[in-house]
Amino acid sequence: MPHLPSLEKDTTIIVLGASGDLAKKKTFPSMMRLFLRNCLPKDLQIFGYARSKMTQEEFHERLSPFLPGTSEEKEGFLKICKYIVGSYDEDAAFQGLTKEIEAHETKNGGEDRNRLFYMALPPNVFTKVSAHLKKNCYSTNGTNRIVVEKPFGKDLDSCKEMIAAMKEIWTEQETFRIDHYLGKEMIKNIINFRFSNPTISESMSNKTVDNVQITFKEPFGTEGRGGYFDEFGIIRDIEQNHLCQVFCLMAMEEPKHFTAEAIRDAKVNVLKQTKTISTDDVLIGQYSAANGKPGYKDDDTVPKDSVTPTFAALVLHVDNERWKGVPFILKAGKALDEGKVDVRVQYKSPTSEHFKDDDRNELVIRIQPKEAIYLKSNVKIPGQNNGTVPVELDLTYSNRFTNDYIPEAYESLIYDCLRGDHANFVRDDELFASWSIFTPVLHAIDAGKVPVKPYAYGSHGPAELEEFIAKYGYKRMSNYEWSKTNVGELEKRLHRA
Ligand code: NDP
Ligand code: BG6
Repeated sequence: MPHLPSLEKDTTIIVLGASGDLAKKKTFPSMMRLFLRNCLPKDLQIFGYARSKMTQEEFHERLSPFLPGTSEEKEGFLKICKYIVGSYDEDAAFQGLTKEIEAHETKNGGEDRNRLFYMALPPNVFTKVSAHLKKNCYSTNGTNRIVVEKPFGKDLDSCKEMIAAMKEIWTEQETFRIDHYLGKEMIKNIINFRFSNPTISESMSNKTVDNVQITFKEPFGTEGRGGYFDEFGIIRDIEQNHLCQVFCLMAMEEPKHFTAEAIRDAKVNVLKQTKTISTDDVLIGQYSAANGKPGYKDDDTVPKDSVTPTFAALVLHVDNERWKGVPFILKAGKALDEGKVDVRVQYKSPTSEHFKDDDRNELVIRIQPKEAIYLKSNVKIPGQNNGTVPVELDLTYSNRFTNDYIPEAYESLIYDCLRGDHANFVRDDELFASWSIFTPVLHAIDAGKVPVKPYAYGSHGPAELEEFIAKYGYKRMSNYEWSKTNVGELEKRLHRA
């Protein structure tokens, strides 16, 4: 794919579905952060478009509580945000939108007319709206880009169908498919961390690694989103996309070049070497009421007999020289005991006869909250004691990068899209390769062939989880406690040892 131009001026952003949840909570606040950092194109105008009848003022009032910054800063940003009411199925409505866009472009001189369409819409209207945009709102005198949100289908066939329908309208080059996890700082960091450190890249293989876990935990349930969620379940919501992207970055070979296409080629290659998930390699669960919190099926929008998983642990096996024999365990759950996303590379046990009972090394990349990388390592207990204690070589970002700004995921991605950089967006063949791995097990789950284990709201997940991960070799550390390498804490621990 050729390098695309960076949109630095003469640009309009159009957010379709501007009355919705994503627009309010993510799209507009992220654009405002870019605005505050002077990263938006010069003289940009943003049009919010949706069916809901609202005045401009009402639209601004709706966005305002979610925007960052002071009230003056918000006022400055909202001046460039206009709201237009229109339907998703009439040419005339989209032609009305085009007139508004053109009026702004003409004010700007009208030389170049670049348009970025952001679809903050449910997937059932994607294709219809993109067809209308192409027919009625496409700029013939500038660059057009369209941003699409997940879900990209529900299985391999529906994904292929959706992508084919979109491709008849918009080219791959014009299309930016968002998986917002690719905008997270620590996920973007995986490539640098793996390939710029020979010690790390050398250690990433079945010679030294025993197993890898990629974990997503949320401390809240699907309250309010049950209707959407019940159609998809946790594997389609989190694992086939967000965690699978992390898996690709952890498992792929070094890209030939660090370009968008070469990175995405490397991801597709490793996906093609990954076996289809077997039903034996899956543990699924659904949360029930506990600790004063409702169960999944207590939500009125969820059918009372739903067997949709809200938790799933599943294992990917890569059939190549580097990773043969190393299970990648993906775990995701709603309504768990805490909120966090991390990658845990557990190395093999020490080989020395003398230290063979010591804890294993673990390299942890904490994606959120509180970005960090730490390596659990064994050291001699200081002083007269010759025993070993597990501690961490710790890079906590907030301690090390005290003055650095870490952009929010959507902020990074909107910026990349304006710059025309596809590297952190999902290519069509990545989707096909990933759906191929997940589709059979999803169909088995949909057909009720995999038992759904209950777990209590606020717990670690189903009781069977410990046994499940132990089956793939994971060993819990026996003697380790997290400390922020605080010397006092370390001393206290050492005195206990
Ligand atoms: P919403 O349900 O809030 O829908 C957005 C807007 O689309 C609504 O305000 C409504 O606008 C319009 N709309 C809703 N249902 C229909 C329908 N059946 N037919 C036509 N228009 C409809 O969705 P979200 O904002 O939550 O999500 C938008 C997209 O982003 C989805 O693809 C979602 O999967 C994805 N996403 C959302 C995240 C989130 O945090 N919310 C996170 C990650 C991805 P109006 O009626 O005014 O036109
Ligand atoms: C979305 C899922 O894609 O990601 C949600 O649909 C989930 O169910 C969200 O809550 C998590 O995103 P983040 O950035 O808060 O980890």
